[in-house]
Amino acid sequence: MPTFKSPSSNAISTQRSADTSRRFDAHAEVYDARVGVPESALTQVAQKIIQCLAGKPENKPNLLEIAPGTGELAQFLFPLCHYHGLEGSQGMLAQLHQRLGALASTHVESSPAELADANQTWPVADASQDAIVIARAAHLLARDHLIKEVRRCCREHSAFLILGRVQKAPDSVAAQLRRMLHQRLREHGHQPRRGGKIHQQLAASIDKDYRTLSAACWQVSESPLQVLNTWRDKTGLGGVVLNAREHVKILDQLEQQCKEHFGDIEKKQQSGREYQLLCATIR
Ligand SMILES: C[S@@+](CC[C@H](N)C(=O)[O-])C[C@H]1O[C@@H](n2cnc3c(N)ncnc32)[C@H](O)[C@@H]1O
Repeated sequence: MPTFKSPSSNAISTQRSADTSRRFDAHAEVYDARVGVPESALTQVAQKIIQCLAGKPENKPNLLEIAPGTGELAQFLFPLCHYHGLEGSQGMLAQLHQRLGALASTHVESSPAELADANQTWPVADASQDAIVIARAAHLLARDHLIKEVRRCCREHSAFLILGRVQKAPDSVAAQLRRMLHQRLREHGHQPRRGGKIHQQLAASIDKDYRTLSAACWQVSESPLQVLNTWRDKTGLGGVVLNAREHVKILDQLEQQCKEHFGDIEKKQQSGREYQLLCATIR
């Protein structure tokens, strides 16, 4: 059984974490509709994660998910392991508890996740975990602290850090728009975040021989206008927090560029998504 320290020592205190948590609080109710992953894909992702640990613990592994959000993946991991999540946004956590409520009541663990700032010491005992899972959130966390906590909380020589990310097909509408956005941000003097690289660097810093697995693939249908509209609601763009005026200006410029590039910006196009897992062994 997992052992957890009291959450009280882990109050959200840094400005960065507080800002992030406010940002996700504001979007908690629409998060899944905006960037959710299909359940069929998430089932496969959860199974693949447990397969990564196969041959290790005879019993259900202790698995800690950092920043589980609304619990999209947690709901499928939960029945397969001793699951616990540390989430920094009260709003996202509320969605997770709603989603996992029925499931959790049928299991021994009373609470599947708690409010905690992953940029502070995690409320988790030393050497207690078989795996740490971080899906689509590693780029939001302080890297050195993350590595330190992963090493502290995991059992030595027999545990894993598993990073999840969704890869868009390079020719998809969303990927094309992302490239245009990054170009615009650079023209405005900003340095956009390169999500994929962050995951690779983090995995490599734990295990230079980390593996990348394709856990699930699916199709999406999206129009340039839909992608732009989801960005209009966001606080930051490409990992850069902008003032409201510049945010609107950049998106207006992008919309104009999309009209020139795509023609009909309401026309939907099919494209592929892939859920990748970067699996690093703690040595
Ligand atoms: C992009 S969402 C990903 C959520 C989920 N893992 C998924 O794949 O859908 C990022 C999540 O990280 C959480 N988060 C960001 N900074 C955090 C921190 N310092 N401590 C804990 N959670 C944090 C946010 O509240 C949000 O739920």
